[in-house]
Order: sequence, then C-alpha cells, then structure tokens
Amino acid sequence: MKCVKVPLKQLNDTRLKLMEDGLMNMEYRIKAEDEFGYIPVDEDIDDYEIVDIDLIPMKKVPHNFSELLEGELTDEEIENLRTSFDTIGDIVILEIPDNLLDKKQLIGDAALKFTKRKSIYMKKSAIKGTTRIRDLEFLSGVDDSVTIHKEHGARLKLDVRQVYFSPRLATERKRVMESVKDGEKILDMFCGIGPFPIVIARNRNVDIAAVDINPEAIRYLDENIELNKLKGSIKTYCGDVREVSEAFKFKFDRIIMNLPGLAYTFLDVAVDLIEDGGIINYYEFSDTYEQGTKRLTDACENAGKNVEIINCRKVKSTSPGEWHVAIDGKVTSE
Ligand SMILES: C[S@@+](CC[C@H](N)C(=O)[O-])C[C@H]1O[C@@H](n2cnc3c(N)ncnc32)[C@H](O)[C@@H]1O
Repeated sequence: MKCVKVPLKQLNDTRLKLMEDGLMNMEYRIKAEDEFGYIPVDEDIDDYEIVDIDLIPMKKVPHNFSELLEGELTDEEIENLRTSFDTIGDIVILEIPDNLLDKKQLIGDAALKFTKRKSIYMKKSAIKGTTRIRDLEFLSGVDDSVTIHKEHGARLKLDVRQVYFSPRLATERKRVMESVKDGEKILDMFCGIGPFPIVIARNRNVDIAAVDINPEAIRYLDENIELNKLKGSIKTYCGDVREVSEAFKFKFDRIIMNLPGLAYTFLDVAVDLIEDGGIINYYEFSDTYEQGTKRLTDACENAGKNVEIINCRKVKSTSPGEWHVAIDGKVTSE
C-alpha cells in the first residue's frame, strides 16, 4: 500500500493536510512504527516521501444487503436474491440459485444482519405434495421455524416447516375480505392455517367453515382463532374436503378455493355446495383467464347451473409466463 512516511511529530498535521486535499486513502488505517507514521494515499505526491508498506484495512460497517455481499456477488445476483426474500413473522426464507449455493452461508449471515429477523432459511425444494409444503434448510440465526406473522392486523401463528403459508397473498386476502358482507356463510375448502378465515372474520360478522387435510394446519388455525379478536365465527374441520363436506347440511354464500394446482378437480363439490347467487372465489395456475373461466362454467353447466364471471385478476407471478390467477364467479340455478 502506498503511504506517506512522516516523523511521528508531524503525523497529525500531515494527516489533516492530506485529508483536506482529498489525497488520503480512507480505507486503510494509519500505522505508527518506531519514529515514523505511515498515511495511506492512492498516488505519489510531490514533497512527501512515499513508501510501500502493509496497512490494515478499516473495518467497514455495512449498511445494507448489497454492502454486506459486496465483492462476493454481482449487483444482479444481489438484486435477484433480495427479491426472493419472503418474510414470515420473524423468519426470512430465501431462494438461492444453484450457482450461488457455495456461498449460501455467507448469504444467510448477510440476510440475518440485514433483516435483523430471528431465523434465515433457504428453500430446498418446490412446494409439493397434498399439504403444499416445501423442504427448508436452516442457514442463520436461531433454528426455530414457529413464528407469528402479522397481516392486516391479524396474528397468524404457524410453523414454516409444517404448513403452507405465503405472505404474497396478503393483498388478495384483503380484496376478498372487502367483498364479503356481514351475514355470509362461507366455506374455505383449503384453509391452511386460516389466513382467509381469520382476516375475514376479524372484519366481518360471518360464519365460516374452514377445512384442511393437514392436521398441523388445523391445529394452528385453532390457535389463531384464539389469538385474534373475531367479529365472526370459524369452525374448523380436518380432512379431505370432498369427504368432510358430505356432512354439511346447508349451502354457502361464498366458497374460497385456494388450492391453485388442483382446485379445478373440486369444482363439482363447490358448485354443489354454493347457494343460489353465491360467489365462488376460484384460483388456479395459468397464463390466461380462459382456462379457469371455462372450467368454472363447465362445472356449473354439468350441475345445471349458470355462472357469471364477475372478476378475474393476477394474484402473483409463479414462474415466467405463469400466474396464480383468481376468478370470481356468481353462481345461479337455472
Ligand atoms: C395452497 S394451500 C392454501 C392455504 C390457505 N388457503 C392460504 O391461503 O394460506 C392449500 C391447502 O390445501 C390443503 N389441501 C390439499 N388438498 C386438500 C383436500 N383434498 N382437502 C382439504 N384440504 C386440502 C393443503 O393442506 C394446504 O394447506
């Protein structure tokens, strides 16, 4: 490292002068040894003795995720990582691409420092199986996968390893909640830990039947009912909705079907259980609205009913060219 060498008694004045002239390299520490001081500079400077000597770099206090990973990853890699963050309560889940897996610990530690959350996990698989959960690998912080996530004032307790939950559906849940009227009887066919039922019942005086096949999801929903002050009521059922719903003795004003990969295979159940004039909030993965609209229309026709599509929207992107789409249909008997 290039340094200006000065006798110790001139060190402070020289340092101030070099700083004033913008010539001092602030990234290294000044060294004092024997009778001399060594001040880091970037270039040779007339009137000063310049020597080459090893200096200790200044400890930089990084301020953000990019700075924490500076020099390790490209700006684009850092940006892609940042947009992959899912924050669920005090847990952060990251998606680390294959080419950065050898730096996963560094990335996990940087995410812990940057987010100041309790635990950092990385996705180890896609969402899979009937219960729609994914494998996670613990990276940094505390290995505790239970947390309480806050959404629109609701408190949602869950274990990210045992149940499905996506914070990216928050806007959709609010939108559905806002379209619900007091007095509705609602069936959530695939409720998970109950974000739709809890957000709706906190804001509306409704009766909700919430079904899920994952016993852990229903266990957390039962806890979430206790954790939140509800205007409406929620009754939970654990099991396959096709079987559980056989016991229902009444119809519903609204049926929520958020199992986007397979909801279409349950449309016959929903169409059978919907009240005349009731709304089906149907979801699927698709690049268009046509497929879902046709599936909903066909299911209604098969049951001798009509459907008016009242709203279609893209909820979130799932992969390039594919969306989690929402289709709202108003079903009437012919
Ligand atoms: C995509 S998650 C949605 C959970 C919740 N609605 C949410 O927004 O967080 C789908 C849920 O459907 C449940 N499930 C899958 N097949 C089912 C079935 N046949 N009957 C009832 N629940 C089912 C899964 O266990 C999972 O919790």
